[in-house]
Amino acid sequence: MKNITVLVSGGGTNLQRIIDCIDSKEISDAKINLIVADRECFGLERAKNHQISHQLIKRGKDFSENLENAIPENTDLIILAGFLSILNKEFCEKFEGKIINIHPALLPKFGGKGMWGNHVHQAVIEAKEQESGATVHFVTSGIDEGEIILQGKVKVDVDENIETLAKKIHQIEYEIFPKAIEKVLRY
Ligand code: GAR
Repeated sequence: MKNITVLVSGGGTNLQRIIDCIDSKEISDAKINLIVADRECFGLERAKNHQISHQLIKRGKDFSENLENAIPENTDLIILAGFLSILNKEFCEKFEGKIINIHPALLPKFGGKGMWGNHVHQAVIEAKEQESGATVHFVTSGIDEGEIILQGKVKVDVDENIETLAKKIHQIEYEIFPKAIEKVLRY
């Protein structure tokens, strides 16, 4: 049985997908041992609804250290599912190869500091890209720079807006995230 710790900052629809895929065995032989949020968010409510251990660790001084202390000893994989805090170098190095993130664009394009959530979609639309997508990648101390595990593409229509693009990207995220998690856990 693999133990997964999930970190969230927002609505947590990707977290919900992970919970559902563990239940349906699309992600096999795994368990969420802890959900950590860096702010009050609906992701925490999802943890409560499913009776999964959860913790709120607010951003600020010693954030990465506090987070490091919260990660259970038996954790095999840390998943950033819409997690918006930057983890420090020590944290990334300590858990190297054991942290993955989902990013709402086709990395290495539209990644790095400030590129999160709708900011990414806005930049993609402004650049008149014809396609975008989502990337699941390993987390290193370089923001959005770690090895890519899986990507999924969507077409960007000429009349696309942030909302419609965000919706499409979420759909592709729900497809690739469980596959990427299963892949990493079974290697
Ligand atoms: C997702 O689209 C994810 O790719 C993005 O936040 C959204 C969270 O949605 N992550 C980032 O921008 C990280 N840089 P959710 O809370 O509904 O899963």
